[in-house]
Formats: sequence, structure tokens, C-alpha cells
Amino acid sequence: MKRGMWLAALGFAALAGTALAQGDVIAERRAGLKRMGGHMDAIKPVAESRGDVKALEPRVDDMIAWFRSMPQRFPEGSSTGDTKALPSIWSDRTGFETADARMVSQLEVLKKAAADGDAAAFATAFQATGPLCGACHRNYRAR
Ligand code: HEC
Repeated sequence: MKRGMWLAALGFAALAGTALAQGDVIAERRAGLKRMGGHMDAIKPVAESRGDVKALEPRVDDMIAWFRSMPQRFPEGSSTGDTKALPSIWSDRTGFETADARMVSQLEVLKKAAADGDAAAFATAFQATGPLCGACHRNYRAR
């Protein structure tokens, strides 16, 4: 096969791959975000009752890993389909990534409090965490 044909064939395969991956990427990020909601629901009563915050460390670790991967879960072209992602994610990429980076930093504070078994510090950090979910949703997620 001539070089040009190979390139054309490769290009087609890449396009087909993108179309397939897009449905997956939306379903996967939505499932991940649902899991993040589950973590927050599970953490809340423990934080508020100054319970065993050390036991929450694995949940916080999962959240840190997930939010670190968040920008790549919103690739160009994944704005349509079964998604509430707003076009502002792509038109204001810096703002979106900044909102995500804030989330990760806050979760690192939460993790330290969990690792230290410091329930008071954990409760304070948790109070500052929820609003960062809402701050991103306000600008980048459709109601
Ligand atoms: C950097 C931005 C950003 C941050 C931070 C963020 N979210 Fe979201 N969230 C989104 C976007 C965008 C969607 C819509 C995703 C889609 O429909 O493709 C979403 C959707 C969701 C959903 C709906 C998932 C579904 O069923 O479709 C839940 C639940 C959720 N987020 C929980 C959270 C929680 C809890 C936090 C904080 C711990 C959080 N999010 C932080 C941007 C963010």
C-alpha cells in the first residue's frame, strides 16, 4: 500500500475510534461523578459527628485520583450526547481546569486531616469542599 493510503486508512480508524470513545467517555465520566457524589454523601455524617475520619482516607484518595483525571474526561467533541456538560468547558478551558485544580488542592487538605485522624480539621476542610463542587457546576454544568 502506498504511504498516502496508509495515512488515509489510519485517519479513518482514528475517527471511528473517536466516535466510539465519545459515548464511553460521557458514560464513564457521569458514572465517576455519581461515585464522587456517593463519597460526599458517605463522608458528610462522619465529618459532622467528628467520627472516624481516618477510615475515610480511601474515599478521599479515590476522589483525588478522579479529579486529577477530570480534564482528560472532557475531550474536545464530547459536548454532545447524553451529557449536561456546557460548551463553556471548551470555550473557557482555563476556567474549567482552574475549578478542577481547586477541587484537587482542597481534597489534599482533606486527605491530610484524614491521615492525621484530625476530626476537627477534617470537618473544617469538608465544609470548604462542597462549595467547590457547586462552583464548578454553576459555570460548567447545565441544570
Ligand atoms: C471542574 C468542574 C467540576 C467539579 C469540581 C465538580 N463537578 Fe460535578 N459535574 C461537572 C460537570 C461538567 C458535570 C456534567 C457531566 C456530564 O453530564 O457529562 C457534572 C456532573 C455531576 C453529577 C451528575 C452525574 C450524572 O449522574 O450524570 C454529580 C452527581 C456530580 N457532578 C457531583 C460532583 C461532586 C460531589 C463534586 C465535588 C466533590 C463535583 N461534582 C465537582 C463538573 C464538576
